[in-house]
Amino acid sequence: MQTPSDFLTASVDLPAAGKHDTDTQGPAPTIYGQSERPPRGDYARDGQVNADYTCPQNYAAYTEADHETYRRLYERQSALLPGLACDEFIAALPMLGAKTHIPRFEEVNERLLKSTGWQLVAVPGLIPEVPFFTLLANRKFPVTDWIRTPAEFDYIVEPDIFHDLFGHVPLLFNPVFADHMQAYGAGGLKAHGLGACEQLSRLYWYTIEFGLIRQAGGGVRAYGAGILSSSGELAHAVQSSEPQRIALDLLRAMRTRYKIDSYQQMYFVIDSFQQLFDLTAPDFSPLYAALKTMDELAVDDSLPEDLLIQR
Ligand code: PHE
Ligand code: FE
Repeated sequence: MQTPSDFLTASVDLPAAGKHDTDTQGPAPTIYGQSERPPRGDYARDGQVNADYTCPQNYAAYTEADHETYRRLYERQSALLPGLACDEFIAALPMLGAKTHIPRFEEVNERLLKSTGWQLVAVPGLIPEVPFFTLLANRKFPVTDWIRTPAEFDYIVEPDIFHDLFGHVPLLFNPVFADHMQAYGAGGLKAHGLGACEQLSRLYWYTIEFGLIRQAGGGVRAYGAGILSSSGELAHAVQSSEPQRIALDLLRAMRTRYKIDSYQQMYFVIDSFQQLFDLTAPDFSPLYAALKTMDELAVDDSLPEDLLIQR
């Protein structure tokens, strides 16, 4: 079984948001990874999509079957978390509210704004880098508003509302992680100016999407959204003897390519969100410069300096 991949970094040509005039629209956004599929989602939506790609959550469009899909996904996934998800995630999950139907973003926002000053904004699907980074830098988290079909219950190729909400939003209630996400957004805008988005997107992949954390007394657990929203990858990431697990090293992660359509073969492990925040706080410009002189690595490469982490 495959993992619900995150296509924030996949190479698809994203359509311009609805209010853009096709004649005046800028160049197609550059995104990385390998995929020829056009993104799913309606970017025109009768002019309801703003220039920053946000739109109203189309709540009236959800069918009973959509709510039922959400309920079943939530039920299955929350039952899998004990012993595999990090404590911070398990503690925050109830903050999402509704378990039996798709939550309204407004309702989640009442709690989220009070907790950490973040808010959810609806988007029609994947959005280009610059609008994505800009939203994060402003403590706005873009959540895809549509849900997978029942046929995609176990596997969906691009992020839907379940991945975005269940996978990413609980940790936005954690103050340190919340600050880290904002810093990442600001860092993304800087990376864009330096032509280093591909390098930074690898760090995103290996932390925010597929990161593992070592917990006091609890061994290694998942904090990455791509793991936490996948029924199959949770146990693979945390318990399987197949993948490599190494201590997070920024240059190592930013040199390592990744695959979006299979379970990860390489995971990077942090000790705490504070460590992640502190490690990523310095200016990355020298790292980007150094990376330009270094070879890329494949997911199954290992280096003598890799610090292997035992489960
Ligand atoms: N500190 C990084 C820079 O200066 C930005 C960043 C912050 C990157 C947080 C990742 C996570 O470019
Ligand atoms: Fe994601």
